[in-house]
Amino acid sequence: MRKYSINRSLCGGTVLLTGATGFIGGSLLERILELDPGPNCVYVLVRKREGISPKARIDKILASPLFVRLKPEALRKVKVIPCDLTAGNLGLSDGDRQILLSECTHVFHSAAFISFAAHLNSAVRINLLSTRHLLGLTKRMPKLRAMVHVSTAYANCTRNSDEVLQERLYPSSMEPSSFIDMMERMSCEEINHKTEEILGNHVNTYTFTKQMAENLLAMERGNVPLSIIRPSIVLNSWSQPTVGWVDNVNSGACGFIAGIAKGLFRTFQATPNTLLDVIPVDMVVSTILAAAERAHQDPENLHIFHCTSNTINPTTWDEYCEEVVRACREHPCENLLWYPKARIRKNYLRNLLVLYVFQIIPAFIINSISPIWNFDKSELIYQVQRRYLKGNSYTSFFSTHQWKFDRRNTQVLQDALAPDEREVHPMDPRLINWRKYFEICVVGTRRYFHKESSATTERARQQMKRLKITAELTPFFIFALLTYAMMNIGISWSIASIFSATIVLFFIWL
Ligand SMILES: NC(=O)c1ccc[n+]([C@@H]2O[C@H](COP(=O)([O-])OP(=O)(O)OC[C@H]3O[C@@H](n4cnc5c(N)ncnc54)[C@H](OP(=O)(O)O)[C@@H]3O)[C@@H](O)[C@H]2O)c1
Repeated sequence: MRKYSINRSLCGGTVLLTGATGFIGGSLLERILELDPGPNCVYVLVRKREGISPKARIDKILASPLFVRLKPEALRKVKVIPCDLTAGNLGLSDGDRQILLSECTHVFHSAAFISFAAHLNSAVRINLLSTRHLLGLTKRMPKLRAMVHVSTAYANCTRNSDEVLQERLYPSSMEPSSFIDMMERMSCEEINHKTEEILGNHVNTYTFTKQMAENLLAMERGNVPLSIIRPSIVLNSWSQPTVGWVDNVNSGACGFIAGIAKGLFRTFQATPNTLLDVIPVDMVVSTILAAAERAHQDPENLHIFHCTSNTINPTTWDEYCEEVVRACREHPCENLLWYPKARIRKNYLRNLLVLYVFQIIPAFIINSISPIWNFDKSELIYQVQRRYLKGNSYTSFFSTHQWKFDRRNTQVLQDALAPDEREVHPMDPRLINWRKYFEICVVGTRRYFHKESSATTERARQQMKRLKITAELTPFFIFALLTYAMMNIGISWSIASIFSATIVLFFIWL
């Protein structure tokens, strides 16, 4: 494969991007705008949300730290098009549709509903039907050079976990068009009732609809030059446009870091030494851009790329958790709820018990007594804990199994990138030192998600020292309290102290 340049590949083109308000789409938008000379125009398809217009949403995003290095003329290339991706015509006005049809050279489809808890109906509408509607539009673009669809490495996690998953299409359980016809004939109640049966070996509607969307694209793409990217778990940026960028915690792994950083989470169910597969968002973005050029150069074939790390630079769930906790102690947030102390637990019941005893029940108590001491975050903390409890049940399948992802296509793509662009378009997971990277994730989450400046780190360290002492003394307080309570109801000191010590030691062991 001849060397190619990402910088040149979009030069003079016109881009259509979905998902620009999301984590990957936002980072992709930034990188496209940073290309010099880059495309002439980037159309972003955005929906109105919570009463905020698409234009206002994008203006807010363009004013965020992610876009700080861009010049005003680069930002002016962004044109917002209101949409509803789930509608048959994508919710586009006739005028906007004509503009897109006549101008677009590149289509990047990053929008999706990434919740593992989505109802099948919603997941199908957003992850499958929107892909079909967008493909329909893309097929009619005379100037089209490439379309890139962002899927997930876990789309095929129905396979046996000993098998190395390949960069090829795995057939869905039903042909996509028959599946869509079937869904259209069913009522919402019927869909809910039959969801489990329809999902088959898939553990959630997300992986099911993502696999189905890949199959739909492969079957219906016609002449569209197409690449499919399958990232694994996407975390903070490694180096581009800045170190540690993250703006939302929609994905569980980002949410876990954000929660530990605030002292909210104490446990997570995973099998120790099980391979975790994590990839920084900027490496995903580089792969998306490189894959567009690949599809352009070889439009006949469908190209699939695993944007993954574990076959060439493995890390485990233990390492992830330990390093995140260590970094949260070194770079603490302000106003921690508790001393950061999370660890992974293999056993379902043990994990559940810790979740209830150290997270849910304390949050419930704090929320119940908050009117007395006017703590306005108590409701939020309780909601976060309830969501985390639910989230654990959805993610445990992925953290107690492991998959290996072959990445030969991606390696070829990576090797073909012009050497002078490898720094600005990082793609190689072998460059990652996991210990340093997880620290980057913690510092980035503190700064960009919790919005705490580095100037407050020293003050937060002082607060954390006090919390650490409190956390270490707490078992003694509980022991004394329990012993005192039991003696008050007539139990002798020796029995009360043995009983209290047993309870306290049990919770320490947990
Ligand atoms: N994050 C990960 O760990 C990960 C891993 C593997 C693959 N992926 C894939 O990467 C892609 C991007 O994920 P992400 O992490 O950036 O997710 P995200 O932060 O949740 O963003 C999702 C994007 O999709 C948009 N969207 C959802 N429904 C829409 C609709 N009906 N109409 C218009 N826009 C809609 C959202 O717009 P609103 O702001 O309007 O909601 C948002 O811009 C997805 O295809 C996902 O499957 C993600």
